[in-house]
Amino acid sequence: MVQASDPYVKAVLSQNGNPVQGHAIFQINCAGCHGLEADGRVGPSLQGVSKRKSPYGLIHQVISGETPPMPKFQPSPREMADLLSYLETL
Ligand code: HEC
Repeated sequence: MVQASDPYVKAVLSQNGNPVQGHAIFQINCAGCHGLEADGRVGPSLQGVSKRKSPYGLIHQVISGETPPMPKFQPSPREMADLLSYLETL
C-alpha cells in the first residue's frame, strides 16, 4: 500500500485536483474498461468508489498494477490529483 510519507503521494495530496480535467484524463485512460461515466464495463463500476477506498487506496490502485488486467499507470502528481478529485465526485 502507498504510504502518506511517500513523496509522490505527498505531491498528489498537496494539490487541489480539478475534477473536470480528471474526467478528461479518465475518459482517455480508464473509460475503455470502466465506462465513459465510470459505470462499469470490463472493469467494475466506480460509482461511490471513494466511500470504499481512501485517497491512498485510490492512488495505489492507479499506480500499482497489482490487479491485472488493470495496467499500472504513472500519471504526474498533477494528473493524479485531477483523477483523484474526479473519482471523489462519483
Ligand atoms: C484494462 C482495463 C482497465 C483499465 C484501462 C483501467 N482499469 Fe481500473 N480496474 C480494472 C479491473 C478489472 C478492476 C478490478 C480489479 C480487481 O479488484 O480485481 C479495476 C479496479 C479499479 C478500481 C478499484 C475499484 C473498487 O471498487 O475498489 C479503481 C479505483 C480503478 N480501477 C480506477 C481506474 C482508473 C482511475 C483508471 C485509469 C487511470 C483505470 N482504473 C483503468 C480494469 C481497468
